[in-house]
Amino acid sequence: MRLILIGPPGVGKGTQAALLESRLGVKPLSSGVIFRAEIEAETDLGRLAKRYIEHGELVPNGVTIEMMAKRIRRDEVRKHGFVLDGFPRTIRQAEALEEILDEMGMPLDKVVSIEVDDEVVLSRLAGRIGCTKCGEIYHSVNKPPKREGICDKCNSPLFVRTDDQPETILERLRVFRENTAPVRDYYREKGLLQVVDGRHEPEEVYQEIVAGVEA
Ligand code: AP5
Ligand code: MG
Repeated sequence: MRLILIGPPGVGKGTQAALLESRLGVKPLSSGVIFRAEIEAETDLGRLAKRYIEHGELVPNGVTIEMMAKRIRRDEVRKHGFVLDGFPRTIRQAEALEEILDEMGMPLDKVVSIEVDDEVVLSRLAGRIGCTKCGEIYHSVNKPPKREGICDKCNSPLFVRTDDQPETILERLRVFRENTAPVRDYYREKGLLQVVDGRHEPEEVYQEIVAGVEA
């Protein structure tokens, strides 16, 4: 399976990528997760990315494309397929991805646009908590961990993302509309877009995605 998940911040891309990995074994390639790991490891790329991420802006295309290209070209991705979460986010990135996949002879199956209203985004991100180690995603109300502040899966501490502050979330939504909404149109014109209603429960959203890919 070769999928892209596209949608505004907090729509549930990471949640769905994790379900697709655990149920179907497809490799999640989440640009935001990779950037946060680079920041944590204090690499040059991490230092650069941090300056953009903490303000809700996009990391420049050049370094983002290079970082993702390296991972897409790995053998395990060729073997098990992938679910791209958070990439591509600009038309330039979409064009670069197309070149890479053409070169590898790996066409996309579907581009899934998960859609919800801004109010839903705000309430979901206001309660999001994530695991510092395994990346499991929780929500203080909708999906609380069994023990406060501790991951159910790996017992590591949970954290709140620095870009989940109200003003940064509004900026991320603005950036989405300006740069990433046109990417949706780009794939619609190619006949690859599947629109999914992200207001439903995660399980229902998952079933809808899988049904669309298999159709
Ligand atoms: P990134 O990490 O990709 O953030 P994002 O796109 O803003 O999306 P989020 O991770 O916030 O939300 P999500 O859709 O994954 O939702 P989740 O499943 O967690 O990017 C961060 C930053 O990195 C960017 O701002 C940018 O600076 C940089 N960056 C990344 N990629 C880049 C690129 N390609 N180019 C340039 N810069 C880039 O769910 C959210 C919450 O809702 C959770 O609490 C969850 O439990 C809950 N939830 C999920 N689904 C449901 C549901 N169906 N019902 C109820 N609750 C739900
Ligand atoms: Mg995410």
